[in-house]
Amino acid sequence: MKLILLGPPGVGKGTQAQKICEQFDSVQISTGDMLRSEIAAGTALGKKADRIISEGSLVPDDIILGMIKNRLFVGEKPTNYILDGFPRTIEQAKGLEKLYSDHHDSLDKVLLFEAPEEMIIDRISARRSCSNCKKVYHLVAMPPKKKGVCDSCGGKLVQREDDKPETIKKRLKVYHEQTEPLVDFYKKRQLLEKIDATGTPEDVAKKVMTVLKG
Ligand code: AP5
Repeated sequence: MKLILLGPPGVGKGTQAQKICEQFDSVQISTGDMLRSEIAAGTALGKKADRIISEGSLVPDDIILGMIKNRLFVGEKPTNYILDGFPRTIEQAKGLEKLYSDHHDSLDKVLLFEAPEEMIIDRISARRSCSNCKKVYHLVAMPPKKKGVCDSCGGKLVQREDDKPETIKKRLKVYHEQTEPLVDFYKKRQLLEKIDATGTPEDVAKKVMTVLKG
């Protein structure tokens, strides 16, 4: 199964991607995680991406499409995967269509996660991620057992640089301007399924499973 998870920053795409991977034999491909790995490794791409991500803008389409092409169609090619945070512009969506057409492949579904803006801001503000294994927590809804420490690996929990209030506003504006047009794009292709992303992570996961198994 080949899926896209679409929706505003902080709506819970990454959280649901992990749950889908647990249920189906699937891999999560997050362009945000790929870029953060480049930043951590101090590569030239990482240095460029760091500046762009910190200000809440989008990394250029050609860079993102190059990363996706390598991940999906070069070397060990995944058969079941979840694209989390990609595509984010019409240009990226068209680029992905071209890649699928070149490789005689296609998408199965696009899940659009929706929640009110105040809820999204609350979720992002209270997010903490493990600096080591990247596991994601919410200080209230999904707290770690021990404050500041990852349950899975004991790593230190940190707040993402782009999760500060000024950057959150900019990321939401960028989402409305550049990513939301993808809703119509995928609706026209009859691939779009809307998911109400309010409620607990488990509630949302149940709605996702209904759509995927239906
Ligand atoms: P990226 O890492 O993709 O961030 P994002 O899309 O902004 O999404 P987030 O990771 O912020 O949120 P999410 O929806 O995954 O929510 P999560 O599950 O963590 O991108 C970061 C940056 O990289 C971009 O701004 C851009 O600069 C660049 N970039 C990445 N991809 C790009 C691309 N394709 N093109 C160009 N640039 C790109 O949940 C959030 C919080 O809520 C967590 O604390 C979680 O525990 C909690 N939570 C989740 N679900 C629930 C629930 N149901 N109830 C209560 N709490 C919940």
